[in-house]
Amino acid sequence: MALNVIMMGPPGAGKGTQAGRFAKERALLKISTGDILREAIKEKNQVALEAKARMDRGELVDDDTMIAIVAERLTRPDAARGFVLDGFPRTVAQARALDEIMERRGSGPLVIVDVVVPEQELIRRLAGRRICGVCGTNADVAAASCAKCGGTLVQRSDDGQKIVLERLRVYQNATKPVLDYYRERPTFRVVNGAQPPDRVARDLDTLIDDATTARL
Ligand code: AP5
Repeated sequence: MALNVIMMGPPGAGKGTQAGRFAKERALLKISTGDILREAIKEKNQVALEAKARMDRGELVDDDTMIAIVAERLTRPDAARGFVLDGFPRTVAQARALDEIMERRGSGPLVIVDVVVPEQELIRRLAGRRICGVCGTNADVAAASCAKCGGTLVQRSDDGQKIVLERLRVYQNATKPVLDYYRERPTFRVVNGAQPPDRVARDLDTLIDDATTARL
């Protein structure tokens, strides 16, 4: 049966880090809406260029655009075994649209994990984050260049202090209600994301396996 995971949590919670690892280990498709948008911006895709202004202000991209992107990805053959969503859904409208897509697909449970980290730690992580200016990979804080391609490290365009505070505000207003939308489901789980990454990974694996079994 397909395993479908949603990695929820505020900016800097470690959704991307854990989604990438989990998807690789379980051979699932990782769908990161932030990465998809950043790739499309690099390719000068018109829709994404319009989205960039919103992203750089810390605002959300409109629901119709995001739902269309995810709906298209989920029709691809490599999504058949299951997927890990990172950064979607971010509004209740997106969550409702995803439920409709899942109903049409009729595949596997939807496991929702909320990665919880205190706000001061989120601000600290995002202020210190550097990414590769060439391939976009998250870099080790101490690294001099990208471990993957040797590219120069830069700050992500939306990681400046003012924009981070706006992203956290938008998360509280628009995305927190999505947790309430899911909270009563038997496959909803919460993980302490303020631990070292390998501890978060261990807890996540246990929680996701437990949620999957509990549902069967
Ligand atoms: P997106 O790229 O999704 O950004 P985000 O949600 O703000 O998340 P981040 O990538 O900043 O953080 P993360 O939780 O993935 O943490 P990470 O693993 O990178 O979205 C960007 C923008 O695109 C949005 O603002 C919006 O405009 C638009 N967008 C995207 N999806 C959308 C949607 N569905 N609807 C509308 N608009 C949308 O880790 C962060 C840092 O912490 C890294 O340096 C990492 O190394 C470090 N770290 C990770 N885990 C740990 C740990 N356990 N301990 C210490 N450090 C850690």
